[in-house]
Amino acid sequence: MSTETGTVFVHPDGRCDSNDVGAGTRVWAFAHVLDGARVGENCNICDGAFIESGAVVGNGVTVKNQVMVFEGVTIEDEVFLGPGVIFTNDMNPRAFIKKHGNELLPTRVRRRATLGAGSVVVCGTTIGEYAFVGAGAVVTRDVPAHAFVVGNPGRVIGWACDCGLRLPASLICECGHRWANVDGGPEGGARLTLVGAAGQQDPDSAV
Ligand SMILES: CC(C)(COP(=O)(O)OP(=O)(O)OC[C@H]1O[C@@H](n2cnc3c(N)ncnc32)[C@H](O)[C@@H]1OP(=O)(O)O)[C@@H](O)C(=O)NCCC(=O)NCCS
Ligand SMILES: [Zn+2]
Repeated sequence: MSTETGTVFVHPDGRCDSNDVGAGTRVWAFAHVLDGARVGENCNICDGAFIESGAVVGNGVTVKNQVMVFEGVTIEDEVFLGPGVIFTNDMNPRAFIKKHGNELLPTRVRRRATLGAGSVVVCGTTIGEYAFVGAGAVVTRDVPAHAFVVGNPGRVIGWACDCGLRLPASLICECGHRWANVDGGPEGGARLTLVGAAGQQDPDSAV
């Protein structure tokens, strides 16, 4: 049994109050997308997820079960949010002080990043493209692109490949991608640069 709103699939036990949801997106049982939330195309909003008014979710995003996405949070395209990921939007909440709009601290997850199950994102942070946050981590600071973060507080312990694997010290991934580290380690503004894609010949080994 299912109901369709345009080309948006909403499970009969799911609820989609927003009219700003893209084609191909599926909202499963007990998930709730509030009026005023923006969700792109081809997203999968799994059972029990919550997307609040003012939250923005891009295209092709996976929102696993029980994820909480609140106002002020922006999720870019093709991000993976594991089960039970929790965002926040008020750094110093009090039940008797209500905050809205600019009073909330914005959080952004850049495209193709992954947040592992049960991770918590403290507001005001930006998680970079292709970053990988391990299960149960608590993100308290900005995460550079491709950084691999675990623990509470979340610490950068290495780099993540496009494919999702943690890179070894050689920066050569099992998938065949070869990377170079610009400026030392992942902390301090360094960046990871792709120097060879899977299937390409390594120019250093060419004869
Ligand atoms: C982070 C992850 C990818 C493992 O990475 P990895 O580098 O292959 O992990 P390893 O097993 O080699 O561990 C490396 C170190 O990090 C630690 N570590 C691994 N995962 C960790 C985590 N989630 N939190 C804290 N520490 C972690 C390990 O204990 C190990 O520490 P040590 O070197 O002191 O022994 C995995 O643990 C994880 O969290 N995956 C996400 C799963 C998930 O949430 N999926 C959602 C969809 S179902
Ligand atoms: Zn790889």
